[in-house]
Amino acid sequence: MKKSIFKVIFVAILALGTVAPIATLATHYTSIQVEKSVNIEATILQTIASDSMFNHIKLLSKSPRVAGTEQEDAAVAYIKKSFESYGYKTEVQAFTFTDYTSPHTIKLSIDSFTKSLDPQALEYSISGQVSGEIVTAGLGKVEELQYLDLTGKIALLERGEISFNDKMSNVIAKGAIGAIFYNNVPGTIMGSLGEVNRAFVPAVLLTEAEGDELVKHINNKPSTHASIRIKGSKSQKNISHNVIATKMPTSNKKQVKKSSKIDKDIIVISAHHDSVAGAPGANDNASGSAMTLELSRVMKNIPSETEIRFITFGAEEFGLLGSTHYVANLTEDEISRITANFNLDMVGSKDAGELIMQTANGKHNLVTQLAQAASTKLNGEPTPVNQGDRSDHVPFANVGIPSALFIHNPAEPWYHKPEDKIDKISKEKLQDVAEIVSIALWNQIRIDHQVK
Ligand code: BES
Ligand code: ZN
Repeated sequence: MKKSIFKVIFVAILALGTVAPIATLATHYTSIQVEKSVNIEATILQTIASDSMFNHIKLLSKSPRVAGTEQEDAAVAYIKKSFESYGYKTEVQAFTFTDYTSPHTIKLSIDSFTKSLDPQALEYSISGQVSGEIVTAGLGKVEELQYLDLTGKIALLERGEISFNDKMSNVIAKGAIGAIFYNNVPGTIMGSLGEVNRAFVPAVLLTEAEGDELVKHINNKPSTHASIRIKGSKSQKNISHNVIATKMPTSNKKQVKKSSKIDKDIIVISAHHDSVAGAPGANDNASGSAMTLELSRVMKNIPSETEIRFITFGAEEFGLLGSTHYVANLTEDEISRITANFNLDMVGSKDAGELIMQTANGKHNLVTQLAQAASTKLNGEPTPVNQGDRSDHVPFANVGIPSALFIHNPAEPWYHKPEDKIDKISKEKLQDVAEIVSIALWNQIRIDHQVK
């Protein structure tokens, strides 16, 4: 309630173009520039339509949009068509990824070993059945294996010093047909072989206690045999896509021509369009995709010397793959020109908490500063900031680009669930976030536009 009264007054001030905002800006701008700028701010706020976002979400969330499926392709086509309907040129950037399915059956049996074992698969363990003599191979370092012949044998390896992947390649090079890893500290871990690789041999992971027992057993009974059986794991090559719509610097044609050698700043507004299997992902993340589309519509005819890229990423749910691919393919020049990434992920749930921003290192940056100024102006209080690295802002942060995730906290109970449907979406939340992001964006491009 407090917020909405604040907003009405604020919009009224903007519409009238009164002195309050002018006073703070007067040192930098002429009064004509300030008046224009205030009017543009009002135009932006008045153009944002939560109905338009709601409608995009409704159409996008009819089914899950798992990366690499026909449903993702349909979402990509819809997003591309929508950007184009607003007058943008688009680029669809394809990339491949491997979708790994964990095994449903993991068995390990050791001759004359009576204690029970609970073998786990590692990420990227391949399916297969092998049996052979078990041989202890220490940590699996090259120098330890120098005088060992593991041909036709199963290597027993302790965790530590080098990666599971390196241990695996080292024992394969010595002829091993299987690998049993065991932890070097109490408790369980999710081990990973780090990559899909057809050359791998079937491998399981045991606890430290199980490993110690096994080593004892083998020391007492050399030439003990073991068999490993792993079923149901598979990896599949897939294609996902990023959709990119670019707003080129548009302000003053003569100026642009004259200064065409001067590199313009770039701001990236992003969201992932894929969802997890079984969840229609209305909030995660048709909401962010719809907001990216809406912000592109709202900003289409706004003067800007800054280039703005509106991007929806694929395969976020498989590990931020679309954004990682996008950032990896930027040139050094582009990286140095991208001044900010606003990443929108889960921005419209009725049942989630308040809006927050998350940065990869938990610190403020240009994005959080701009958005806090905007939220203070719009709602009377700054959007809080904390640490979080679970979305597409992370690859940008990793190359030094100021980035932040916009998300409501705590998350709704329907996160990654079949209930994440259009009936859980709040138009008010969508409107609020879109206003904050658009005003933050405008405050940055306005400076580039008028002061440079
Ligand atoms: N939208 C979520 C991230 C999220 C959810 C952040 C709730 C904060 C609170 C995102 O789509 C997601 O599910 N990310 C994965 C991580 C990713 C690296 C696969 C996650 O958090 O499990
Ligand atoms: Zn998400």
